[in-house]
This record gives sequence, structure tokens and C-alpha cells, in this order.
Amino acid sequence: MTNEINAQWRLAATPKGGLPVAEDFRWTTEELPEPGQKQMLTETLYLSLDPYQWGRRRSGVELPGEVCHGRTVSRVVKSRIPDFSEGDIVFNTNGWQQYGLSGEGVGIFGYMHPRKLDPALAPVSTAIGVLGMLGLTAYSGLIVQCQPKPGETVVVSAASGGVGQVAVQLARLAGCRVVGIAGAQHKVDYLESLGVDCVVSHLDPQLPEKLSAACPDGCDVYFENVGGPVFDAVLPLLNKNARITLCGVISQYGNTDGQDPRAVWQSTGQAVFQRQQVTVHDLFVGNFVDQYQDIFLQEMAGYIRSGQVKYKEDLRLGLECAPQAFYDMLTGDNFGKTLLAVGDYSVR
Ligand SMILES: NC(=O)c1ccc[n+]([C@@H]2O[C@H](COP(=O)([O-])OP(=O)(O)OC[C@H]3O[C@@H](n4cnc5c(N)ncnc54)[C@H](OP(=O)(O)O)[C@@H]3O)[C@@H](O)[C@H]2O)c1
Repeated sequence: MTNEINAQWRLAATPKGGLPVAEDFRWTTEELPEPGQKQMLTETLYLSLDPYQWGRRRSGVELPGEVCHGRTVSRVVKSRIPDFSEGDIVFNTNGWQQYGLSGEGVGIFGYMHPRKLDPALAPVSTAIGVLGMLGLTAYSGLIVQCQPKPGETVVVSAASGGVGQVAVQLARLAGCRVVGIAGAQHKVDYLESLGVDCVVSHLDPQLPEKLSAACPDGCDVYFENVGGPVFDAVLPLLNKNARITLCGVISQYGNTDGQDPRAVWQSTGQAVFQRQQVTVHDLFVGNFVDQYQDIFLQEMAGYIRSGQVKYKEDLRLGLECAPQAFYDMLTGDNFGKTLLAVGDYSVR
């Protein structure tokens, strides 16, 4: 064991503002807990920073004083669970802390059950990215819900991010013409390097015209990550019988008007949806774990091994920078899937 003290970020108070500020979080330390019967102590190696974490904090689901929730890749330090041994690398939900307990009596976060990882399959950090919930989100929304056909035009927003970069590549593999929407130029360049057919920046004041030009045959499938003005630009391009997966509306996560952003999104699109007979699939990745996670992991591991799917991680160093990295991810100052290397990352 390298450290007898457990450092943590706790939620200081239910956030008042639209976007995170330093005062929302409190740095604490405590002694390492001892694993009880059928429990294990694990050391966090990688921590995932995701938009949904902000929703939990703002809505009061995560309570002031609690260790901030987060999905993690961890190393087993001490185990009293027969299936896990010291040194095993696992996926679990230690949250924003250096060490955590898993096992009997420790709450499981929704569908995120601890599982052992095989470092030979892929770098273990991918278990909170392309080979984890994010990849499964892209797969469920695009492949399972929207069922893209060869030759169709697929538009993906936040296309260089954790979910988006997987969605664009799956759409390419399905034989579609893929149009990506991203912010800064380096993200546009990255998407072009992945083989995305056309990339448009939402920072361009001519987004509607540029997007229209990028979709000469309209849009058959829209993978929605963003909402707001990006959605406004996509709406007029939707073809008859288009399909949308409503994955997220991140441009609205800092709103303070008290309205449900998904409901606003639905009512904004309603007239076009009716006229064009658009099918909107609401996406919650947790609903796809039981049926699709194993199939997905097998398929995606193959794509990564063969180089057919590439992935970009925005790896930040040190638990200390979690609040800043979290803010950066929510506001687009990230590049790829945002995660933190926690603890002694020099020996990884
Ligand atoms: N339904 C589900 O079960 C589920 C599961 C996981 C994730 N999600 C959703 O998937 C989406 C992507 O999540 P992620 O974890 O992969 O994050 P991410 O895409 O890696 O990071 C967020 C990205 O959102 C974009 N963004 C932020 N503010 C924006 C704005 N005002 N206008 C346009 N783009 C903006 C930024 O990209 P640019 O710099 O390119 O603008 C930023 O990089 C989110 O909406 C999230 O809520 C849903």
C-alpha cells in the first residue's frame, strides 16, 4: 500500500449556479477504511468525469457531504471477496477519491457492477471510455435504436467527445455518410483524421448553412448530444422517417430557468417530428446493459484490436484537478474522453 491516507472530493453544498464553481467541492482526507467480510479495498487508478454527474449534483440526488460519485478503474489492495485478489484491476465506482470499498453493504451505483478487467484486452482506462459506458451509449443509441443503413446520412453532435467519437466511427463501419459537429478546429481536424466525411463547427456563425451544405441528401439519423442552436440547425434537414437518438443536451446543462431541457427539446422539435414522421428514441444506457453489454464489449474490443475504431482520451493528472477538469469537460475545453489519472500515476 502506498498511502495510508485517503484523499477525497466531497460535495460541499447543492450547487446554486448553472455550471460548477470551486466552492461546490470540498477536499477532505481520512484514514483508509478496512474491508469487512465480502468487501475489498481498491485504489483508484482512473476516474471518469461525465456530464451526468453534474445533473446528480444540481438536482440534489448527490447529497452535500457525500464523496462525489464517479466511475473508476481501480487496483485491488486488500480483498475479502473470493472472486477478487490483491493486484486485480477492476471497474468500479470509487468516486472522486483515492481509495474505496466495494462489496457487500456498499451501494452499487445503478447498473455499474464491479467487474474484473483483462489488461491484455485493451488499456484498462478504456473501461471507463470506449470499452465502457460511453462506448455502450454510442452503440445502443446508434446501432440498436437507430439502425443506420448503408448510404444513409448520419449526423452526430459533440462528435469528438467520449460518446460522439465512437458514434461517428460506428456509423462509418455501418456504411453511412457521416457528418460530425464539433467546436474548436483541432476537434474538427481530429474527426477528419478518423474518416468522418464532413465536419462542421458549431462555433461558425454560419452553422445552419454549413450543415445544410454538408447534408445534400438531408439527415436520416441524428445522434443528439448537444441540443440548443445545434439542434435548431439539424431540424430542417431531417428526412421523412428519420430517426433520432436523444442521448443528451449538454448545451443546456448550465441552464438556470428551472425547465427540463429534454422536455424543451421535445417541444422544439415536435412540429418537424410530426410532419416528417421522425422517430425519437430516448436513450438511457442503463437499459441496454443486461442485453447488449457482452455483445458490445466483444465487438468493440475486436474493432480496437484491428484499428477499425480509434479513441482519444483527455487524460488529466492528479485527483486535485478534478473540479477544474470537470468544468472543462462540461464547457468544451476537453479533447476526447475526459478522465483523471489518480494516485501514483508514474508507476502505471
Ligand atoms: N443517455 C445516456 O445514457 C447518456 C450516457 C452517457 C452520456 N450521455 C450524454 O452524451 C453527451 C456527451 O457526453 P460525453 O461524456 O461524451 O461528453 P464529451 O462529449 O466528451 O464532452 C462534452 C462535449 O460537449 C460539447 N459541448 C459542451 N457545451 C456545448 C455547447 N454549448 N454547444 C455545443 N457543444 C457543447 C463539447 O464539445 P465541442 O467542443 O465539440 O463543442 C464538449 O467536448 C452528453 O450530452 C451526455 O449527457 C448520455
